[in-house]
Amino acid sequence: MTVHIGAKPGEIAETVLMPGDPYRAKWAAENFLEDAVLVNEVRGMLGFTGTYKGNRVSIQGSGMGMPSFSIYANELIRDYGAKTLIRIGSCGGMQDKVKIRDVIVAMTATTLNSPSSGIFKELNFAPCADWSLLKAAVAAAEAKNVPPHVGGIYSSDVFYDERPDLNEQMTRHGILGVEMEAAELYNLAARHGVRGLAVLTVSDHLLTGEALPSEDREKTFGDMVEIALDAAFA
Ligand code: ADE
Repeated sequence: MTVHIGAKPGEIAETVLMPGDPYRAKWAAENFLEDAVLVNEVRGMLGFTGTYKGNRVSIQGSGMGMPSFSIYANELIRDYGAKTLIRIGSCGGMQDKVKIRDVIVAMTATTLNSPSSGIFKELNFAPCADWSLLKAAVAAAEAKNVPPHVGGIYSSDVFYDERPDLNEQMTRHGILGVEMEAAELYNLAARHGVRGLAVLTVSDHLLTGEALPSEDREKTFGDMVEIALDAAFA
């Protein structure tokens, strides 16, 4: 057990999918894993372990934002020995070519500020995905006829951002979408020598103001879960 995860030693797999929403973790475990068992419910941040095509895998909620994500990722890596961590979540589209429901595989994650900023200080570290996972996720998405966008995303620390000029600069520099966790995943993966990737679906759009109706989210989210699982065990 750690401060935030109640699983016993050995109850968490080396491969962990991390949705922000703990109920998405439950939904994904019930729909995509075999023999899934609940291994964590501390603070309601549900975590499950089961198998996918015979491979042991856990799905652990991360909460929203890099500070929360960092707590779970640190404990999964340092205390439970996680070696492959894949964030599965939603993002806001930031390019015209990126449409609602599209899948983004995040090659890099730009950020203004993260829990690692205190370590990096003046260094502009470039948080990037694990190449083997990135390549496998693109192949898995294409095999499902879900051609993904592959490129940079922006990990914001403010959901209700009142700095419109900042989002404009991100769009101008080709950033595909905005979410709130991936940069710290990539920082921690680099620091601890483990594999990290973020696979995202576009749930809303900053340029058009569109938003995915909640009843449409499950199908879209399902494609993303399968892409992440297939990439993890490619
Ligand atoms: N996650 C989903 N949509 C988002 C948005 N517009 N901003 C930040 N995170 C998001």
